[in-house]
Amino acid sequence: MIRPERRKDHEAIFKINESAFGRPHEALLVDALRRSPAFIPRLSLVALESRQVVGHILFTAVEVSTATDSHPALTLAPMAVLPAFQRRGIGSSLVRRGLDDARELGHGVVIVVGHPGYYPRFGFVPAGPLGIRAPFEVSSVTFMALELRPGALRGVRGEVRYPPEFAEVEG
Ligand SMILES: CC(C)(COP(=O)(O)OP(=O)(O)OC[C@H]1O[C@@H](n2cnc3c(N)ncnc32)[C@H](O)[C@@H]1OP(=O)(O)O)[C@@H](O)C(=O)NCCC(=O)NCCS
Repeated sequence: MIRPERRKDHEAIFKINESAFGRPHEALLVDALRRSPAFIPRLSLVALESRQVVGHILFTAVEVSTATDSHPALTLAPMAVLPAFQRRGIGSSLVRRGLDDARELGHGVVIVVGHPGYYPRFGFVPAGPLGIRAPFEVSSVTFMALELRPGALRGVRGEVRYPPEFAEVEG
């Protein structure tokens, strides 16, 4: 079962991120992003198993900008599944449902920094060759983009401008 987060899920979401990443940074990032204008409540999704919240994914608004031009996009970050529930398809279900919901809400482009063995299965491709740059040092194979509608990436070039909350999370 996957649904948008509710207020009562906040604590479980914190614990899932903290235990999946083995540090509090991403959990704190989620809490900070909830207070940001870039936060999209319908794109903070939780996965439930036997009524327990075991997974979480967040898509936040970003811009892909040049000096003269700016295009709205989303970034997928972070996502986490409780260690005891990993490798059972929960993460994949969260990504697919998130992409479907984002498309339904009218979004066109999603950016992710993630493992190149994982995200291409959902349609992500390297973003650098498309002319999209990260504002931080990142290995080219981990910086990826996906279009939610055919042609949505056309003309989308420049540097991704993340909400400032991301700058406070290292690594
Ligand atoms: C990434 C994560 C959310 C995936 O959730 P999941 O429910 O285990 O995912 P699924 O069961 O759908 O998919 C498992 C696949 O992901 C791969 N995978 C998961 N984490 C991976 C990682 N850090 N590096 C490489 N591959 C990874 C597994 O190898 C597996 O691949 P396979 O299907 O080819 O065997 C989960 O492993 C997690 O919480 N990891 C720690 C936090 C993290 O690194 N988040 C991603 C960065 S924001």
